[in-house]
Amino acid sequence: MNTDRYLTFALTKGRLAKKTMELFERLGIVCDEMKDPDSRKLIFKNEELKLKFFLAKGPDVPTYVEYGAADIGVVGRDTIQEEGRKLYEVLDLGFGRCRMCVCGPEPARALLDGQSQIRVATKYPHIAKDYFYNQKNQTVEIIKLNGSIELAPIVGLSEVIVDIVETGSTLRENGLVVLEEICPLSARVVVNPVSMRMENERITGLLSRLNEIITQEQQEAQTCRQ
Ligand code: PRP
Repeated sequence: MNTDRYLTFALTKGRLAKKTMELFERLGIVCDEMKDPDSRKLIFKNEELKLKFFLAKGPDVPTYVEYGAADIGVVGRDTIQEEGRKLYEVLDLGFGRCRMCVCGPEPARALLDGQSQIRVATKYPHIAKDYFYNQKNQTVEIIKLNGSIELAPIVGLSEVIVDIVETGSTLRENGLVVLEEICPLSARVVVNPVSMRMENERITGLLSRLNEIITQEQQEAQTCRQ
């Protein structure tokens, strides 16, 4: 084990990074620099534990990890699937839970028959293509958008959309429904394959401590529900 080398984490900017750091704090991994809202710093260090953290846009996290610029990443499963990078997906952090779904107005359900030539608007063209072409064997036209995907069927750009559904309120407020569920999503830990080999002890040690805390939290949540 080479403890002089920093282990570098790429975290998805925003809520995922905040939740990740809260989880790390429970392991005694703190990075006070990161909490300063006025800081313009891009890299944050924990000198004592030889850890480095940086924040990146979700779709860039798998890129940093594949190229080894970060050893470990925390990113949504949607992004991992869409980016298709060479990395190990090693742990489900259990937060950021939502679903990737085909949605649209209720009458569009009849068009998901495997035959209809429909247009599918999405921020996730690879996921949508894989689902329609490989799982449903339905030839569709995929239209890439960058946000507010629910607009597409409302204004007549597409018949359906492939998008993330969390609470379902965006759909409800716009007269749309979930037509089919593609897969469940949540925040995942990804690891660069070379880092996993070279820093195996440190990385697997950290992962098993994270796993313990997550299991403990899930058990506590279950007890509260009972
Ligand atoms: C996401 C997603 C949906 C919405 C789902 O959009 O694309 O629009 O959240 O959440 P809900 O089921 O809780 O309503 P986001 O807010 O990330 O912005 P975007 O539309 O610009 O992608």
